[in-house]
Amino acid sequence: MSLLTVTGLSITGQGGTGLVDDVSFEVGPGDRTGLIGESGSGKSLTSLAVMGLLPAGLTATGDVRLGGVDMIGAPERRRTGVRGKVAATVFQEPLTALDPLMTAGRQIAEPVRRFRGLRGTALRDAVHAALDEVRLTDTERIAGSYPHELSGGQRQRVAIAMALACRPRLLIADEPTTALDVTVQAEILDLLDRLVTTHGTALLFITHDLAVAARVTRQTHVLRQGRIVESAPITELIDRPAHEYTRTLVDSARRFDTALGRHLS
Ligand SMILES: Nc1ncnc2c1ncn2[C@@H]1O[C@H](COP(=O)(O)OP(=O)(O)O)[C@@H](O)[C@H]1O
Ligand SMILES: [Mg+2]
Repeated sequence: MSLLTVTGLSITGQGGTGLVDDVSFEVGPGDRTGLIGESGSGKSLTSLAVMGLLPAGLTATGDVRLGGVDMIGAPERRRTGVRGKVAATVFQEPLTALDPLMTAGRQIAEPVRRFRGLRGTALRDAVHAALDEVRLTDTERIAGSYPHELSGGQRQRVAIAMALACRPRLLIADEPTTALDVTVQAEILDLLDRLVTTHGTALLFITHDLAVAARVTRQTHVLRQGRIVESAPITELIDRPAHEYTRTLVDSARRFDTALGRHLS
């Protein structure tokens, strides 16, 4: 059974401007699906529509089923039940997911308490296990730190720990490493790769960067101006891009990112 099915999703802005146009794709249990395209191609809006969280003023049509729930038409109460539990999200800027006034430990404890019903020592242990899992050593200190006391990489690890603490079946990662230094970026990609493998979590990975996609995604959809122009396993997209736009992406990745050439050859 498909975990996520997006069929003919279109998103329009005020005055009917087309932002996403007839997008269809599926993510099955344990899949690693990529959405790739340049800035403004509709990647984030697609992921927000999947979570039923489009900004006010935008309208979605088509069909989005996440864990069997209609994320466009179902009552808000049903859609809320899906968020965090069936699918969780990690964004480019971890600060958007983190409450500046809450310690890292309390932020992770919140969903664990809510979704897994843990209290007291069991809750504390679960929080420390979650921090351990994202390779944050010195868990006692990190758990007691506020977001501004952590580095960008540490914050993204906390955000990943929060997203995975409730064992969602799908993790949606929207440019999760774009704001980070290249070395930290590689560490976070390795971490995501390991965690989704360990837990059998499906991954919908969104990026503008072909070399980044090459590290973690399999079946990948190329978005251009709100439309999917090509879908194929990432290795095929790189070796035999069929659409001219994909060819442009591959060429510029090769040209500007020689250090990442090994992922592209
Ligand atoms: N809240 C909004 N209202 C109107 N237009 C928006 C809104 N959010 C995004 N857009 C527009 O929709 C298009 C797709 O945006 P987005 O999905 O954020 O692109 P990506 O994530 O691929 O960079 C862009 O042209 C963007 O300007
Ligand atoms: Mg985006």
